[in-house]
Amino acid sequence: MIFIDACFKKDTPYTPVWMMRQAGRYLPEYRAVRASAVDFISLCKNYKLASEVTLQPVDILDVDAAIIFSDILVVPMQMGLNLRFESGEGPVFDSTIRNLDDLSKLSLDVNLDYVYDALKLTREKLKDDKALIGFCGAPWTLATYMIEGRGSKNYENSKKAIYKNEPFMKELLSMLTQALKSYLENQIKSGANAVMIFDSWAGALESSVYLEYGFSYIKEICSYLKPKYPYIPIIVFAKGSALSYEKMDGDFDVFGVDWSTPIEYADKIIPTKYCLQGNMEPFRLYDKKAIDEGIEHIRANIKNHKHIFNLGHGITPDVPVENARYFIQKAQGKI
Ligand code: CP3
Repeated sequence: MIFIDACFKKDTPYTPVWMMRQAGRYLPEYRAVRASAVDFISLCKNYKLASEVTLQPVDILDVDAAIIFSDILVVPMQMGLNLRFESGEGPVFDSTIRNLDDLSKLSLDVNLDYVYDALKLTREKLKDDKALIGFCGAPWTLATYMIEGRGSKNYENSKKAIYKNEPFMKELLSMLTQALKSYLENQIKSGANAVMIFDSWAGALESSVYLEYGFSYIKEICSYLKPKYPYIPIIVFAKGSALSYEKMDGDFDVFGVDWSTPIEYADKIIPTKYCLQGNMEPFRLYDKKAIDEGIEHIRANIKNHKHIFNLGHGITPDVPVENARYFIQKAQGKI
């Protein structure tokens, strides 16, 4: 698989590409399947439908990897927090976890069979040369949702927990780390060829605090998985963490770079033992000339690393499909 070879810095016939959130609302085919399910969570829980939408971008855009259709928040949901998606508001949990007592509400159960079944079915259907990516949210990012109860601007309660209730915060992060080790391991056993850890809110913390409360737990997950599954590449995407890059060393293979980080900086500062993934600004997808310039800039400035093309964050819901296809083919060097 070209994607897996690139993760391990092997020579590939072209630069592989996929897009974060590639299975989603910009595709009419996704919207049709989504409309047939009661809501977004029901879609995630129906492994046949989840598999179907996972495969759509591979068929429609010919990306080099599929990412299993699910959400980072299914883990806290399985641990005991009821999750809803309110339209216009995003994810909302019915209760929050804010102190040591609240932790007793949580289980370490990761019997997310609908995710594992979706992976098995998808791996069966996917062509041999296309990789299947499993994923999870990082402990810090998941903790923010569990503590705030929803998406947040300032992460107030989560940051207060760091500074005022360290024993609670560290225990929550440790519990999540334990659950995520098993969760990713089960995904690998179900057919994931690579796994990706999303730390979407890494940029909310000062660098030294991020390294202690964010990255160190990711590192622990990688150290657990790598010796057991050396042939499964691990991708780490910690959004907004560029100023910590120099200190983010761990047992992973691919460094996800977000769009706000100058790629020339990433190329200079990140050790060459990692493959780089990224980092086109997703809004460039609205215009073909902007796509051309974005690709050209990234290509010209990655001088020291093996590279996997991707966006620097998720694709937005109203990108024209034609432009998404143009980006993929251009990035692969096929047009
Ligand atoms: O194609 C893929 O990338 C795979 C599926 C995937 C989804 N979410 C599907 C989804 C992945 C990898 C995620 C990860 C995720 N979910 C993250 C980390 C990545 C990032 O973007 O930083 C985060 C922070 C979440 C939490 C979450 N889930 C949010 C903030 C939202 C948006 C809510 C909204 O109203 O727009 C979701 C919902 C969600 N997850 C959608 C999809 C396709 C949209 C739901 C829909 O179809 O209505």
